[in-house]
Amino acid sequence: MSDTQSAVQSQIIEAFEFRHATKVFDPTRKISDSEFTTILEAARLSPSSFGLEPWQILVVQDPAKRELFRPFSWGASGVFNGTDGQLGTASHFTILLAHTGATMSHASEYPLKHASEVKKFPAEALEGFNAAYTKFQKEDFQLATDREITDWSARQAYIALGNMMTAAALMEVDSCPIEGFDAAAASKVLEAEFGIDPQQYKPAVMAAFGYRAGAPMFPKTRRSVEATVRWL
Ligand SMILES: Cc1cc2nc3c(=O)[nH]c(=O)nc-3n(C[C@H](O)[C@H](O)[C@H](O)COP(=O)(O)O)c2cc1C
Repeated sequence: MSDTQSAVQSQIIEAFEFRHATKVFDPTRKISDSEFTTILEAARLSPSSFGLEPWQILVVQDPAKRELFRPFSWGASGVFNGTDGQLGTASHFTILLAHTGATMSHASEYPLKHASEVKKFPAEALEGFNAAYTKFQKEDFQLATDREITDWSARQAYIALGNMMTAAALMEVDSCPIEGFDAAAASKVLEAEFGIDPQQYKPAVMAAFGYRAGAPMFPKTRRSVEATVRWL
């Protein structure tokens, strides 16, 4: 680290070096309520396209409920390393849901209601907001099908995911993002066990939080700066 790097810069880089995709957590260690609240705040305060916050975060703490996801969650079950996986060992286990076309289409009620009630846009600004969002969906990004709109929502949810993991790392809390699951099977469990309407929400990604049980299983490797960034 260079001499000119400030304490904050060093702290940021150290947090990113510290963070790794934790495969097994120490099941005896729990994240404090205050730290987990901070992680959730990092998600809630995250930016999103048009400010629409098209996500919902489930925190699954009941061990029996977590087990319902194990059969089809190969990325969190420990099946590849002979452990209880993130599902069985994490202090906190979250599922980030993406809104679907039912709520995020320009023609649905949610965007305008959100702009008015949450973003506090004045009444005279709502028409312009709706026109811009409609143009964005229809022309700019061509988000027409339910799948396209849900995927767009999921992209926003991943921003919250990244911020949650960075916030955790800054507090020396470990984490793991998880896409290793059968999304259709997860949707069925979410509907049957949690009353989540699959027409309204689809699981985008899971994220486990806790404290590592041991040293990272894999070294951190990345492409070089030159291969990653082009200055134009
Ligand atoms: C969206 C996403 C999904 C991931 N899914 C899983 C997963 O299901 N199980 C797992 O153990 N790791 C998962 N990972 C972790 C990656 O494999 C890991 O971040 C990558 O190999 C780099 O390693 P590092 O995070 O330890 O630096 C996922 C990462 C991301 C960003």
